[in-house]
Amino acid sequence: MGQSFTPGSAPDQPLAQIAQGRGYTYGCAVTARLIAEEPDFAALVAREAGLLVPEYEAKFDTLQPEQGRFDTGPLDALLRWAEHFRKPLRGHALIWHNALPDWVPPVLAESRARAQGVMEAHFDHVLAHTRERIRDWDVVNEPIANPPGSDVPEPPGNSGDLRDSPWLRALGPDYVAIALRAARQRDRTLRLTLNDYGVEADSPPAEEKRRRLLRLLRSLRDRNVALDAVGIQGHLQMREAFSPAIFSAFVKDIRALGLQVLITELDVREVKPPVGDFVARDSAVAQRVHAFASAAFEGGARTLLTWGISDRWSWLHREQTVALDPGDVHRGLPYDWELNRKQMWRALARAFLGQGVG
Ligand code: G3I
Repeated sequence: MGQSFTPGSAPDQPLAQIAQGRGYTYGCAVTARLIAEEPDFAALVAREAGLLVPEYEAKFDTLQPEQGRFDTGPLDALLRWAEHFRKPLRGHALIWHNALPDWVPPVLAESRARAQGVMEAHFDHVLAHTRERIRDWDVVNEPIANPPGSDVPEPPGNSGDLRDSPWLRALGPDYVAIALRAARQRDRTLRLTLNDYGVEADSPPAEEKRRRLLRLLRSLRDRNVALDAVGIQGHLQMREAFSPAIFSAFVKDIRALGLQVLITELDVREVKPPVGDFVARDSAVAQRVHAFASAAFEGGARTLLTWGISDRWSWLHREQTVALDPGDVHRGLPYDWELNRKQMWRALARAFLGQGVG
Protein backbone atom coordinates (compact mmCIF):
# COMPACT_ATOMS: atom_id res chain seq x y z
CA MET A 1 0.00 0.00 0.00
CA GLY A 2 1.63 3.33 -1.04
CA GLN A 3 2.10 6.01 1.55
CA SER A 4 -0.60 8.65 1.27
CA PHE A 5 -0.06 12.28 2.24
CA THR A 6 -1.59 15.65 1.52
CA PRO A 7 -0.70 17.35 -1.76
CA GLY A 8 2.49 19.36 -1.67
CA SER A 9 3.90 17.35 1.18
CA ALA A 10 6.05 14.26 1.26
CA PRO A 11 7.07 11.86 4.02
CA ASP A 12 9.91 13.22 6.12
CA GLN A 13 12.36 10.50 5.12
CA PRO A 14 15.61 10.73 3.13
CA LEU A 15 15.18 10.53 -0.65
CA ALA A 16 17.35 7.40 -0.64
CA GLN A 17 14.83 5.66 1.62
CA ILE A 18 11.76 6.94 -0.24
CA ALA A 19 13.26 5.82 -3.55
CA GLN A 20 14.43 2.44 -2.27
CA GLY A 21 11.01 1.73 -0.81
CA ARG A 22 9.62 1.83 -4.33
CA GLY A 23 12.42 -0.04 -6.07
CA TYR A 24 14.31 3.06 -7.24
CA THR A 25 17.71 4.51 -6.41
CA TYR A 26 18.39 8.16 -5.66
CA GLY A 27 21.89 9.55 -5.61
CA CYS A 28 23.94 12.64 -6.26
CA ALA A 29 27.32 13.90 -7.45
CA VAL A 30 29.84 14.80 -4.77
CA THR A 31 33.38 16.14 -4.62
CA ALA A 32 36.12 15.00 -2.26
CA ARG A 33 36.77 18.63 -1.28
CA LEU A 34 33.20 19.30 -0.16
CA ILE A 35 32.97 16.02 1.71
CA ALA A 36 36.22 16.90 3.54
CA GLU A 37 35.62 20.60 4.15
CA GLU A 38 31.85 21.03 4.52
CA PRO A 39 30.53 18.80 7.34
CA ASP A 40 26.92 19.99 6.93
CA PHE A 41 27.04 19.14 3.23
CA ALA A 42 28.64 15.76 3.97
CA ALA A 43 25.96 14.95 6.55
CA LEU A 44 23.22 15.90 4.08
CA VAL A 45 24.65 13.65 1.37
CA ALA A 46 25.14 10.81 3.85
CA ARG A 47 21.46 11.09 4.79
CA GLU A 48 19.84 11.72 1.41
CA ALA A 49 21.87 9.84 -1.22
CA GLY A 50 21.84 6.08 -1.76
CA LEU A 51 24.38 6.25 -4.63
CA LEU A 52 27.28 8.61 -5.32
CA VAL A 53 29.15 9.78 -8.41
CA PRO A 54 32.40 11.83 -8.31
CA GLU A 55 31.88 15.21 -9.96
CA TYR A 56 35.37 15.11 -11.43
CA GLU A 57 37.69 12.87 -9.38
CA ALA A 58 37.26 9.91 -11.76
CA LYS A 59 37.93 11.87 -14.94
CA PHE A 60 40.98 11.43 -17.14
CA ASP A 61 42.60 14.77 -16.20
CA THR A 62 42.43 13.97 -12.50
CA LEU A 63 43.37 10.30 -12.71
CA GLN A 64 46.28 10.49 -15.17
CA PRO A 65 47.59 14.09 -15.23
CA GLU A 66 50.80 12.99 -16.93
CA GLN A 67 51.28 9.99 -19.16
CA GLY A 68 51.88 6.99 -16.96
CA ARG A 69 51.52 8.95 -13.71
CA PHE A 70 48.21 8.13 -12.01
CA ASP A 71 46.69 10.09 -9.13
CA THR A 72 43.80 8.23 -7.52
CA GLY A 73 44.09 10.19 -4.26
CA PRO A 74 40.93 12.32 -4.60
CA LEU A 75 38.92 9.35 -5.91
CA ASP A 76 40.23 7.10 -3.13
CA ALA A 77 39.14 9.68 -0.54
CA LEU A 78 35.61 9.57 -1.96
CA LEU A 79 35.68 5.77 -2.13
CA ARG A 80 36.71 5.56 1.56
CA TRP A 81 33.92 7.95 2.56
CA ALA A 82 31.38 6.07 0.45
CA GLU A 83 32.52 2.76 1.93
CA HIS A 84 32.18 4.14 5.49
CA PHE A 85 28.55 4.99 4.77
CA ARG A 86 28.01 1.78 2.76
CA LYS A 87 27.10 3.71 -0.37
CA PRO A 88 27.98 2.51 -3.87
CA LEU A 89 29.80 4.91 -6.14
CA ARG A 90 29.50 4.92 -9.93
CA GLY A 91 32.40 5.88 -12.21
CA HIS A 92 32.35 8.98 -14.42
CA ALA A 93 33.93 9.02 -17.01
CA LEU A 94 36.60 6.93 -18.74
CA ILE A 95 36.50 8.45 -22.26
CA TRP A 96 35.32 12.03 -22.88
CA HIS A 97 36.32 14.92 -25.15
CA ASN A 98 36.59 17.16 -22.06
CA ALA A 99 38.69 16.86 -18.89
CA LEU A 100 41.62 15.56 -20.94
CA PRO A 101 45.08 16.56 -19.72
CA ASP A 102 47.16 18.53 -22.25
CA TRP A 103 49.40 15.52 -22.99
CA VAL A 104 46.60 13.35 -24.39
CA PRO A 105 45.49 14.95 -27.70
CA PRO A 106 48.98 15.15 -29.27
CA VAL A 107 49.75 11.53 -28.30
CA LEU A 108 46.41 10.32 -29.66
CA ALA A 109 47.17 12.18 -32.91
CA GLU A 110 50.48 10.31 -33.42
CA SER A 111 48.87 7.09 -34.63
CA ARG A 112 45.94 4.78 -34.19
CA ALA A 113 48.15 2.34 -32.33
CA ARG A 114 49.35 5.05 -29.91
CA ALA A 115 45.75 6.17 -29.30
CA GLN A 116 44.61 2.61 -28.60
CA GLY A 117 47.60 2.20 -26.30
CA VAL A 118 46.67 5.32 -24.31
CA MET A 119 43.08 4.12 -23.90
CA GLU A 120 44.13 0.60 -22.87
CA ALA A 121 46.80 1.79 -20.42
CA HIS A 122 44.22 4.09 -18.78
CA PHE A 123 41.64 1.32 -18.54
CA ASP A 124 44.26 -1.20 -17.30
CA HIS A 125 45.17 1.02 -14.36
CA VAL A 126 41.83 2.60 -13.49
CA LEU A 127 39.61 -0.49 -13.84
CA ALA A 128 42.07 -2.63 -11.87
CA HIS A 129 42.37 0.02 -9.14
CA THR A 130 38.61 0.44 -8.71
CA ARG A 131 37.54 -3.15 -9.50
CA GLU A 132 36.28 -3.99 -6.00
CA ARG A 133 34.50 -0.68 -5.47
CA ILE A 134 33.11 0.76 -8.72
CA ARG A 135 30.83 -1.63 -10.58
CA ASP A 136 29.31 0.85 -13.04
CA TRP A 137 31.20 3.23 -15.33
CA ASP A 138 30.29 5.89 -17.85
CA VAL A 139 32.70 4.35 -20.34
CA VAL A 140 32.07 6.98 -23.03
CA ASN A 141 30.65 10.39 -22.10
CA GLU A 142 28.84 12.64 -24.59
CA PRO A 143 29.71 10.89 -27.89
CA ILE A 144 26.79 12.38 -29.88
CA ALA A 145 27.29 15.54 -31.94
CA ASN A 146 25.03 18.45 -31.01
CA PRO A 147 22.64 19.14 -33.92
CA PRO A 148 22.15 22.62 -35.43
CA GLY A 149 20.06 24.79 -33.13
CA SER A 150 21.62 23.26 -30.00
CA ASP A 151 23.18 25.42 -27.29
CA VAL A 152 26.65 24.48 -28.48
CA PRO A 153 26.15 23.11 -32.02
CA GLU A 154 28.86 20.98 -33.59
CA PRO A 155 31.21 23.08 -35.74
CA PRO A 156 30.37 23.04 -39.47
CA GLY A 157 31.98 20.25 -41.43
CA ASN A 158 31.19 17.50 -38.97
CA SER A 159 28.54 15.55 -40.83
CA GLY A 160 28.27 12.43 -38.72
CA ASP A 161 26.24 11.52 -35.64
CA LEU A 162 29.36 11.57 -33.44
CA ARG A 163 30.85 14.67 -31.85
CA ASP A 164 34.30 15.69 -33.02
CA SER A 165 36.85 14.67 -30.37
CA PRO A 166 40.52 13.64 -30.14
CA TRP A 167 39.29 10.03 -29.74
CA LEU A 168 37.16 10.19 -32.91
CA ARG A 169 40.01 11.76 -34.90
CA ALA A 170 42.49 9.14 -33.72
CA LEU A 171 40.38 5.98 -33.84
CA GLY A 172 37.50 6.87 -36.16
CA PRO A 173 33.76 6.40 -35.44
CA ASP A 174 34.55 2.97 -34.02
CA TYR A 175 36.20 4.54 -30.95
CA VAL A 176 32.97 4.06 -28.97
CA ALA A 177 32.89 0.31 -29.69
CA ILE A 178 36.65 0.06 -29.09
CA ALA A 179 36.25 1.65 -25.64
CA LEU A 180 33.30 -0.55 -24.68
CA ARG A 181 35.07 -3.71 -25.80
CA ALA A 182 38.24 -2.68 -23.94
CA ALA A 183 36.26 -2.16 -20.72
CA ARG A 184 34.38 -5.46 -21.08
CA GLN A 185 37.61 -7.36 -21.75
CA ARG A 186 39.04 -6.01 -18.46
CA ASP A 187 36.00 -6.65 -16.30
CA ARG A 188 33.26 -8.97 -17.48
CA THR A 189 30.80 -8.01 -14.75
CA LEU A 190 31.18 -4.23 -14.96
CA ARG A 191 28.01 -2.34 -15.97
CA LEU A 192 29.06 -0.39 -19.07
CA THR A 193 27.19 2.86 -19.65
CA LEU A 194 27.10 5.45 -22.43
CA ASN A 195 26.21 8.87 -21.00
CA ASP A 196 24.90 11.91 -22.88
CA TYR A 197 22.79 15.07 -22.61
CA GLY A 198 20.52 17.27 -24.72
CA VAL A 199 17.98 14.50 -25.41
CA GLU A 200 15.38 15.57 -22.85
CA ALA A 201 13.52 18.55 -24.31
CA ASP A 202 10.59 18.81 -26.73
CA SER A 203 12.59 20.65 -29.39
CA PRO A 204 13.95 19.94 -32.91
CA PRO A 205 17.62 19.76 -31.76
CA ALA A 206 16.75 17.38 -28.90
CA GLU A 207 14.64 15.26 -31.25
CA GLU A 208 17.52 15.02 -33.72
CA LYS A 209 19.97 14.19 -30.92
CA ARG A 210 17.62 11.43 -29.71
CA ARG A 211 17.58 10.02 -33.25
CA ARG A 212 21.40 10.13 -33.41
CA LEU A 213 21.79 8.41 -30.04
CA LEU A 214 19.32 5.67 -30.99
CA ARG A 215 21.19 5.10 -34.28
CA LEU A 216 24.43 4.63 -32.32
CA LEU A 217 22.78 2.28 -29.82
CA ARG A 218 21.19 0.15 -32.58
CA SER A 219 24.51 -0.03 -34.41
CA LEU A 220 26.29 -1.20 -31.27
CA ARG A 221 23.58 -3.79 -30.61
CA ASP A 222 23.65 -5.05 -34.22
CA ARG A 223 27.40 -5.59 -33.84
CA ASN A 224 27.05 -7.26 -30.43
CA VAL A 225 29.19 -4.57 -28.82
CA ALA A 226 29.09 -4.84 -25.03
CA LEU A 227 26.83 -2.17 -23.51
CA ASP A 228 24.52 -2.42 -20.51
CA ALA A 229 23.02 1.00 -19.90
CA VAL A 230 22.45 4.53 -21.13
CA GLY A 231 22.87 7.52 -18.86
CA ILE A 232 20.64 10.47 -19.71
CA GLN A 233 22.20 13.41 -17.92
CA GLY A 234 19.06 15.48 -17.37
CA HIS A 235 20.55 18.98 -17.31
CA LEU A 236 17.10 20.52 -17.80
CA GLN A 237 16.55 24.08 -19.00
CA MET A 238 13.38 25.97 -18.07
CA ARG A 239 13.54 27.88 -21.38
CA GLU A 240 12.96 24.61 -23.25
CA ALA A 241 9.61 22.88 -23.66
CA PHE A 242 9.23 19.42 -22.16
CA SER A 243 6.82 16.66 -23.20
CA PRO A 244 6.47 13.74 -20.75
CA ALA A 245 5.02 11.56 -23.53
CA ILE A 246 7.93 12.22 -25.90
CA PHE A 247 10.54 11.64 -23.21
CA SER A 248 9.01 8.48 -21.73
CA ALA A 249 8.68 7.05 -25.27
CA PHE A 250 12.39 7.75 -25.80
CA VAL A 251 13.29 5.97 -22.58
CA LYS A 252 11.14 3.01 -23.71
CA ASP A 253 12.92 2.99 -27.10
CA ILE A 254 16.24 2.61 -25.29
CA ARG A 255 14.85 -0.04 -22.94
CA ALA A 256 13.53 -1.93 -25.98
CA LEU A 257 17.17 -2.41 -27.04
CA GLY A 258 17.72 -4.36 -23.83
CA LEU A 259 19.49 -1.45 -22.12
CA GLN A 260 18.93 -0.01 -18.66
CA VAL A 261 18.36 3.74 -18.40
CA LEU A 262 19.71 5.97 -15.64
CA ILE A 263 19.14 9.68 -15.10
CA THR A 264 22.70 10.61 -14.19
CA GLU A 265 23.07 14.39 -13.68
CA LEU A 266 19.67 16.00 -13.03
CA ASP A 267 19.60 19.71 -12.32
CA VAL A 268 17.63 22.66 -13.67
CA ARG A 269 18.95 25.80 -15.35
CA GLU A 270 16.49 28.70 -14.93
CA VAL A 271 15.95 31.43 -17.50
CA LYS A 272 18.17 34.50 -17.15
CA PRO A 273 17.04 36.61 -15.37
CA PRO A 274 14.77 34.22 -13.45
CA VAL A 275 11.07 35.05 -13.27
CA GLY A 276 9.30 35.71 -9.95
CA ASP A 277 10.21 35.29 -6.30
CA PHE A 278 11.76 32.15 -4.80
CA VAL A 279 8.32 30.59 -4.20
CA ALA A 280 7.34 31.02 -7.85
CA ARG A 281 10.74 29.93 -9.14
CA ASP A 282 10.87 26.86 -6.90
CA SER A 283 7.34 25.90 -7.91
CA ALA A 284 8.19 26.08 -11.61
CA VAL A 285 11.37 24.03 -11.13
CA ALA A 286 9.50 21.47 -9.01
CA GLN A 287 6.80 21.01 -11.64
CA ARG A 288 9.39 20.46 -14.38
CA VAL A 289 11.39 18.03 -12.23
CA HIS A 290 8.27 16.08 -11.25
CA ALA A 291 7.17 15.84 -14.91
CA PHE A 292 10.66 14.77 -16.02
CA ALA A 293 11.30 12.22 -13.27
CA SER A 294 7.79 10.74 -13.58
CA ALA A 295 8.24 10.39 -17.36
CA ALA A 296 11.64 8.77 -16.88
CA PHE A 297 10.22 6.27 -14.38
CA GLU A 298 7.21 5.61 -16.62
CA GLY A 299 9.65 4.82 -19.41
CA GLY A 300 11.53 2.34 -17.21
CA ALA A 301 14.39 4.27 -15.59
CA ARG A 302 15.07 3.09 -12.03
CA THR A 303 18.04 5.22 -10.99
CA LEU A 304 18.09 9.02 -10.72
CA LEU A 305 21.05 11.11 -9.59
CA THR A 306 21.13 14.87 -9.23
CA TRP A 307 24.32 16.71 -10.18
CA GLY A 308 25.03 17.88 -6.67
CA ILE A 309 22.38 18.38 -3.99
CA SER A 310 22.61 22.05 -2.98
CA ASP A 311 22.37 25.13 -5.21
CA ARG A 312 25.34 26.54 -3.33
CA TRP A 313 27.85 24.14 -4.85
CA SER A 314 26.30 23.56 -8.24
CA TRP A 315 28.37 23.79 -11.41
CA LEU A 316 25.51 26.06 -12.57
CA HIS A 317 26.84 28.60 -10.09
CA ARG A 318 30.56 28.01 -10.79
CA GLU A 319 30.39 27.87 -14.60
CA GLN A 320 30.40 31.49 -15.78
CA THR A 321 28.77 30.66 -19.12
CA VAL A 322 25.57 29.54 -17.38
CA ALA A 323 25.67 31.30 -13.97
CA LEU A 324 23.09 33.93 -13.06
CA ASP A 325 24.11 37.49 -12.18
CA PRO A 326 26.10 37.93 -8.97
CA GLY A 327 23.95 37.48 -5.88
CA ASP A 328 21.66 34.92 -7.48
CA VAL A 329 21.99 31.20 -8.17
CA HIS A 330 19.99 28.76 -10.22
CA ARG A 331 17.52 27.01 -7.89
CA GLY A 332 17.96 23.72 -9.75
CA LEU A 333 18.83 21.23 -6.99
CA PRO A 334 16.81 19.73 -4.10
CA TYR A 335 18.40 21.93 -1.40
CA ASP A 336 19.02 25.67 -1.39
CA TRP A 337 22.14 27.67 -0.49
CA GLU A 338 21.48 27.28 3.27
CA LEU A 339 20.80 23.53 2.86
CA ASN A 340 17.03 23.88 3.29
CA ARG A 341 14.78 21.49 1.39
CA LYS A 342 13.00 23.07 -1.56
CA GLN A 343 9.91 22.17 -3.51
CA MET A 344 12.20 20.26 -5.90
CA TRP A 345 12.95 17.84 -3.06
CA ARG A 346 9.23 17.19 -2.58
CA ALA A 347 8.74 16.87 -6.33
CA LEU A 348 11.39 14.13 -6.47
CA ALA A 349 9.94 12.39 -3.41
CA ARG A 350 6.46 12.40 -4.96
CA ALA A 351 7.77 11.17 -8.30
CA PHE A 352 9.54 8.26 -6.58
CA LEU A 353 6.25 7.52 -4.76
CA GLY A 354 4.24 7.68 -7.97
CA GLN A 355 2.26 10.61 -6.56
CA GLY A 356 1.14 13.72 -8.45
CA VAL A 357 3.15 16.89 -8.12
CA GLY A 358 0.74 18.10 -5.45
O1 G3I B 1 39.88 21.19 -7.92
C1 G3I B 1 40.69 21.86 -8.89
C2 G3I B 1 41.47 22.92 -8.18
O2 G3I B 1 42.42 22.30 -7.31
C3 G3I B 1 42.20 23.77 -9.21
O3 G3I B 1 42.87 24.83 -8.57
C4 G3I B 1 41.21 24.31 -10.22
C5 G3I B 1 41.97 25.06 -11.30
O4 G3I B 1 41.16 25.14 -12.46
O5 G3I B 1 40.50 23.23 -10.86
C6 G3I B 1 39.76 22.49 -9.91
O6 G3I B 1 39.14 21.43 -10.61
C7 G3I B 1 38.00 21.85 -11.35
C8 G3I B 1 36.86 20.91 -10.96
O7 G3I B 1 35.71 21.12 -11.78
C9 G3I B 1 36.45 21.12 -9.51
O8 G3I B 1 35.82 22.36 -9.40
C10 G3I B 1 38.32 21.71 -12.83
O9 G3I B 1 39.25 22.72 -13.17
C11 G3I B 1 37.05 21.92 -13.63
O10 G3I B 1 37.30 21.68 -15.01
C12 G3I B 1 36.00 20.92 -13.16
O11 G3I B 1 34.81 21.17 -13.87
C13 G3I B 1 33.90 20.06 -13.89
C14 G3I B 1 33.54 19.80 -15.36
O12 G3I B 1 32.53 18.77 -15.44
C15 G3I B 1 34.76 19.33 -16.15
O13 G3I B 1 35.27 18.16 -15.56
C16 G3I B 1 32.65 20.45 -13.11
O14 G3I B 1 32.98 20.53 -11.72
C17 G3I B 1 31.56 19.40 -13.30
O15 G3I B 1 30.34 19.85 -12.70
C18 G3I B 1 31.30 19.18 -14.80
O16 G3I B 1 30.38 18.11 -14.88
C19 G3I B 1 29.94 17.78 -16.21
C20 G3I B 1 29.88 16.26 -16.32
O17 G3I B 1 31.16 15.70 -16.05
C21 G3I B 1 29.37 15.85 -17.70
N1 G3I B 1 28.06 16.46 -17.96
C22 G3I B 1 28.08 17.94 -17.85
C23 G3I B 1 28.53 18.34 -16.45
C24 G3I B 1 28.46 19.85 -16.26
O18 G3I B 1 29.35 20.47 -17.13
